[in-house]
Amino acid sequence: MTARRIAYEVLRRVDEHGAYANLALGPALERSGLDTRDRHQVTDLVYGTTRMRRACDVLVDRFVAEPPDPATRTLLRLGAYQLAYTRTATHAAVSETVGLAPRRTRGFVNAVLRKVAATPLDTVQWPSPWARLSYPDWIGDRLESELGHPDAVGALEAMNTAPSTTTRDDGYVQDLSSQWVAAAVAARPGELVVDVCAAPGGKATALAAAGAHVVAADIRPARSRQVAANAVRLGLGLGVITADATTLPIRRASADAVLVDAPCSGLGVLRRRPDARWRVESDDISELAELQARIVTAAAALVKPGGRLVYSVCTLTRAESLDHPVPPGFEPDQERPPAGTWRAYGHGWRVLPQDAGTDGMTLLRYRRRA
Ligand SMILES: C[S@@+](CC[C@H](N)C(=O)[O-])C[C@H]1O[C@@H](n2cnc3c(N)ncnc32)[C@H](O)[C@@H]1O
Repeated sequence: MTARRIAYEVLRRVDEHGAYANLALGPALERSGLDTRDRHQVTDLVYGTTRMRRACDVLVDRFVAEPPDPATRTLLRLGAYQLAYTRTATHAAVSETVGLAPRRTRGFVNAVLRKVAATPLDTVQWPSPWARLSYPDWIGDRLESELGHPDAVGALEAMNTAPSTTTRDDGYVQDLSSQWVAAAVAARPGELVVDVCAAPGGKATALAAAGAHVVAADIRPARSRQVAANAVRLGLGLGVITADATTLPIRRASADAVLVDAPCSGLGVLRRRPDARWRVESDDISELAELQARIVTAAAALVKPGGRLVYSVCTLTRAESLDHPVPPGFEPDQERPPAGTWRAYGHGWRVLPQDAGTDGMTLLRYRRRA
């Protein structure tokens, strides 16, 4: 099978059956027998078409009178993506995509894609700026209110590009902004550090590598097993437990530092999960904020007097960061800026996806009064 056909079949599973793009893609690539170059092409077609789904629909819908059936819709998206957002030669993008259509729709797909190809992008009337960038309106509006228009556009543009890969000295693949969060814990040899939302263990292993005694907890058994497996692979000793961060079986006021890398809406990491923008909902933010606040309260109780509490989320909403009350008995730790490309943000810090090509991240540091 060709790269385009495999991409089309994966996209149909994503579009029609709600499959997760990364989960549908991996096995399809394994089965494909394609070489590395073609695998990259399949990945770009699947992820790119999924990211640009809304924009592709706008490009196509100018030339269709009635909504196409789901399979044809997916094929038109795939064609429009190649025409508008890749360097594929026009004739190849059209003819190879048309070649995937069943005979009954071939003429229609051919006619629509030829029109898309013939119309310059800068003449398109976008229904909203967020349609052009291919996000749901609520995400564009939300980031605009959080960041202002220019930074919102910059963040959304940056999250339309494929993520870069950064690898730590010990071989663990971890985004730079996550490495900065781990560094902000400033774990020292011999300290007791608790990571209450630890899986898959990127930050917990960094803390253990700094010489701290680390207890890593995650609520999901399969995910806490990943933490243990990653620690073994890196030759690091750390204690792993499966537990709810709101009720951890750890003595109060015992930890030198506690890291809360909380579950969040993920609006800073949308480049990593191309379909995430179509799944996350605005109501998720308030629900997650409520869970985060409960986790912070429970985590704060574990910190010993004079100890540190570090909170991070890979999102950019105030509701999931600055709006959380400072835990009683703690004060924001603003002694020195954390290492990394952080912007000051209230009593915390954040990095936008366009600042340094990293994930977007928000960081709050507190110290418990002695
Ligand atoms: C942002 S991820 C953590 C990433 C991790 N710190 C790392 O660097 O690899 C959030 C984690 O919190 C876990 N989680 C969600 N709710 C939780 C809870 N109530 N208690 C503990 N862990 C929870 C999720 O399973 C998920 O693995």
